Amino acid sequence: MATTALIREDDRASDTLHIQFREDVLTGLSQSRKAIPARWFYDHRGSELFEAITVLPEYYPTRTEVGILSERCAEIASTVGPGRVVVEFGAGSATKTPLLLDCIAPSGYVPIDISGDFLRESCAPLAARYPGLPIHPVEADFSEPAQLPAALSSQPRLGFFPGSTIGNMEPAAAVDLLRTMRATLGSGSQLLIGMDRIKDETVLAAAYDDAQGVTAEFNLNLAHRINRELGGTIPVEALLHRAVWNDARARIEMHLEARRDIAFEVAGRSFSLSRGETIHTENSHKYEGRSAATLLLAGGWEPSHTWMDAQGRFMVILAQAIGNEQTA
Ligand code: AVI
Repeated sequence: MATTALIREDDRASDTLHIQFREDVLTGLSQSRKAIPARWFYDHRGSELFEAITVLPEYYPTRTEVGILSERCAEIASTVGPGRVVVEFGAGSATKTPLLLDCIAPSGYVPIDISGDFLRESCAPLAARYPGLPIHPVEADFSEPAQLPAALSSQPRLGFFPGSTIGNMEPAAAVDLLRTMRATLGSGSQLLIGMDRIKDETVLAAAYDDAQGVTAEFNLNLAHRINRELGGTIPVEALLHRAVWNDARARIEMHLEARRDIAFEVAGRSFSLSRGETIHTENSHKYEGRSAATLLLAGGWEPSHTWMDAQGRFMVILAQAIGNEQTA
């Protein structure tokens, strides 16, 4: 009985996801400037390709952030202080979460993720590694305020949002998310967040258009996914991966560009792209000290410490919640 109910829940969740995917793709392809939200990159194949990107020689962000967290561990620990509940937005990454938990002597760990499966998978090894640490996974969309487990309610919190994922959001959406995090974590809380820095355009361009073509495959997988899941007929071989630095907006944009005029169908609807026209698939915003501070302050967080690698490529910022519950 319980198993049947669980299967129905999972079916409902995947139906909702399918409907949202269809709607986002059809809406995005109907615009004069075609664009599809980057969240749809991450089907099974897309997640595998992203993992492969993180270890590419050109893709510096992951290894640089891991380097900062491990090399500055003692300093981060003494600044944060012991006994905080670590609330991670997104299920823990195998490499980054233990680095933080090893260094700061936490009193609990609360990963928040929309995928129950992903949460269970990531919590099992952490529970084995930290047998004495209370771990309370919360299955929820972290872009909405979440109720944290009552058992940990009296303890101070440290939000953890590594990976420069904030950079994939438009600044207005990033501010909304920061304010939601502030509401979830409450007054007296801290936030440790990873942000990628503005740098030489050639370094950025290579990071998003690597020599082995893995990022190209990641981008093109979105077109394959549309064909697989939405009955699409996109001629994927007619699309080119493009990574472009938009200086005015301080972001790398990824696009799929038509090599020739093409026409195709998705979910029974007809679309076309002229030669050179693109589908905009991702933004990856880059920050420096002031723009990062402006974003955090607008989101209800006062930056207090910044740790950077020697080349100044990436920053890990510790910020303090501003004000009390009412102002969040
Ligand atoms: C997940 N996110 C932080 C990555 C980034 O760098 O913006 C996604 C990515 N896109 C292409 N390569 C990596």
